[in-house]
Amino acid sequence: MDGNGRWAKSRKLPRTAGHKKGIEATKAIVKRAGEIKVEYLTLYAFSTENWNRPESEIDDLMSLLRFYLKSETAELHKNDVRLRVIGFREKLSQDIITLIEKVESMTANNTGLNLTIALDYGSRQEIVSAVNRIIHDGKTDIDESVLSTYLFTHDIPDPDLLIRSSGEQRISNFLLWQCAYSEFFFSDLMWPDFTSEEFDKAIEAFRARDRRFGGIESVQA
Ligand code: IPE
Ligand code: MG
Repeated sequence: MDGNGRWAKSRKLPRTAGHKKGIEATKAIVKRAGEIKVEYLTLYAFSTENWNRPESEIDDLMSLLRFYLKSETAELHKNDVRLRVIGFREKLSQDIITLIEKVESMTANNTGLNLTIALDYGSRQEIVSAVNRIIHDGKTDIDESVLSTYLFTHDIPDPDLLIRSSGEQRISNFLLWQCAYSEFFFSDLMWPDFTSEEFDKAIEAFRARDRRFGGIESVQA
């Protein structure tokens, strides 16, 4: 979800105004994903590298996250959404960790959209942490499936489609292992301008892709 800051800047507004507007876009996309029966939606909300931003912006982002978790939980639960948060939790404030744990356990048995928020998430760090825990557990001669079980995403499938907004065309330390065979869709819209129509367009484009996974025959999703 990229482009909140530029959206605000182009309107001579503070960056936070862009993040606020970005949350509105997020709500609409979560709703749309549920409607069109997307099974898994993972949102990159805050990266390990985002801690390098000015403290005031980090504070604003955390406040918005707090607000989102508090104000949306009931609605998400009502809509049968199962919420997970992936990422390193140590640096988050305790009240946010508690909020996350509450929402995760409250929605754990829901069977609708699997909504995952990547928070303090960095893919290289995730892989390194997995390797360290594998060593710690005394495992040798591991294979791909063993490593996968040590990732934050151990209970969610690899993404079929990765969408990045704001015209940037890079992966920025997101799900590097998991995106091995994902299709990519780059949108020029800043995240606050990202609409359900654009989301549908991305899915339409995905449907037209010929996925061969290194083979020569198309593989149907
Ligand atoms: C939102 O967009 C993504 C977050 C890290 C919260 P940005 O804040 O990265 O916006 P730009 O890239 O500066 O426009
Ligand atoms: Mg950005």
